[in-house]
Amino acid sequence: MTTTPTSPSPVSPSLIATLPGRYYTDPEVFRQEQEKLFESLWCCAVRSADLDRPGAFRTVQVGRENVIVTRTRTGELRAFLNVCRHRGARLCTEEAGEVRRSLQCPYHAWTYDLDGKLIAAPNLIKMPDIDRVEYGLIKVALREWLGYAWVCLADEPPSFEDTVMHAAVERLGDAAAIAHYGTERLALGRRVTYDVRANWKLIVENFMECYHCATIHPELTEVLPEFADGYAAQYYVGHGAEFGEGIEGFTVDGSAGFARLPDVTAGQDRRYYAITVKPAVFVNLVPDHVILHRMFPLAEDRTLVECDWLYAPEVVASGADVSKSVELFHRVNVQDFEACERTQPAMSSRAYRGGGVLVPNEHHIGIFHEWLLTSLGESRA
Ligand code: FES
Ligand code: FE
Repeated sequence: MTTTPTSPSPVSPSLIATLPGRYYTDPEVFRQEQEKLFESLWCCAVRSADLDRPGAFRTVQVGRENVIVTRTRTGELRAFLNVCRHRGARLCTEEAGEVRRSLQCPYHAWTYDLDGKLIAAPNLIKMPDIDRVEYGLIKVALREWLGYAWVCLADEPPSFEDTVMHAAVERLGDAAAIAHYGTERLALGRRVTYDVRANWKLIVENFMECYHCATIHPELTEVLPEFADGYAAQYYVGHGAEFGEGIEGFTVDGSAGFARLPDVTAGQDRRYYAITVKPAVFVNLVPDHVILHRMFPLAEDRTLVECDWLYAPEVVASGADVSKSVELFHRVNVQDFEACERTQPAMSSRAYRGGGVLVPNEHHIGIFHEWLLTSLGESRA
């Protein structure tokens, strides 16, 4: 007897299909996403306090561009394309550093002030007509929110309020609710960078669902028992997920954390809120700290995730041990990213050519897919 290999049958019309596998593997889809999402929308680039003095800079990848974020002598943050206007050399080659007054290109020493203006070029006296402002660094739009510098490469950036800040209102049900955590005043307790061998959308979709919580997050479901039911964080709009009985804090063993942040309300106490800011930022709010993830997609199958744990300044200044709360979400991250990495290779399998299935409590991931397709100017075939 011989068997004939079969292609998978399409998902039944009564079920919602995920995106087809090629959306996670095709370099052309990734290129489109870079152009239409990461180079068009606001992206969270740098924590403002990481640039704590004039001349401090960090470089980040935003879509296909490398961007320098720096602090000027008058204390403002500025962002520029990391490209020298002379012959295009990358100006800053380090990920972070500090200059005294200016940024100097390592190729022919064109020099720019911290506002991006061209201030010196060897032998420029022989080319007197060069316009030092016109040949300054190319500025990138920058806004600060939650203590981070958000940048947008678009010539006409979309409304920051509608496309970024709105996510917090959507999830918390109240424009003021996120301000109670005073995120911009918090101090960095720990930062972990994860190099995840998976498409950025697998990470977003995973973050948006809780169907997997009972299977892969034993520590998290101990602290948030409601999550074991698999309801998505979406279910908790407005009221968050409640800590379990006997759980004292958002820590790996449920032991007490730190004092509640000063403006967190009684209604927000003992609760966990999760916000996704499209395209690639996650914010988690718990009574005594905030966890913020920034994703930097590097290739269709590789994403860098920088995760910051933020605490009251006095907690960090006191040298208190933050490891119990860091350990809880670090384990969640490792568990999630392992799941994403296990899924990535299968995206190119013929079994996933037509996509997979969204179960009913993941319907909001379908909304994310619709947003993605609309942003790419496509529709479901
Ligand atoms: Fe930068 Fe020439 S490329 S100075
Ligand atoms: Fe998870």
